[in-house]
Amino acid sequence: MNMKIGIAADHGGFELKEKISELLKSSGYNLVDYGAYSLQDQDDYPDFVVPLAKAVASGQMERGIAICGSGVGASIVANKIPGIRAALITDSFSAHQGVEDDNMNIICFGGRISGPALVWELIQSFLSAKFSGAERHQRRLYKILELEK
Ligand code: RB5
Repeated sequence: MNMKIGIAADHGGFELKEKISELLKSSGYNLVDYGAYSLQDQDDYPDFVVPLAKAVASGQMERGIAICGSGVGASIVANKIPGIRAALITDSFSAHQGVEDDNMNIICFGGRISGPALVWELIQSFLSAKFSGAERHQRRLYKILELEK
């Protein structure tokens, strides 16, 4: 359970980030908070999600959780960082299948869309899942990697 997890949120996801951070810490995860550190209703999600995404891409963090109001902006900006495979998740199948097949390394949520109980279940599913390494999935990921060159 010593997995290094990073989390980030703007004002739209701040409250959810605080709740989820408590749950992650009390479950024994090694959590790094990339902000926001207080609720500022004019803050911008790239300011928090980009540092998180860079930490995940560099291997400093093993997985990331990015939250904004809808989860859309967070996933768009996270995917601009080479090496990031981020997705906005609202269902339990995608929370684990996104890792098993697509090696998703950042999960995104909408703080105005998904409640803390559901998000906590989705996070547990995401963190427990492992990339299958199957040849067909590696082949697909290689095609994505080529786009980052
Ligand atoms: C901020 O109000 C909101 O636009 C942002 O949190 C997010 O929903 C963007 O996708």
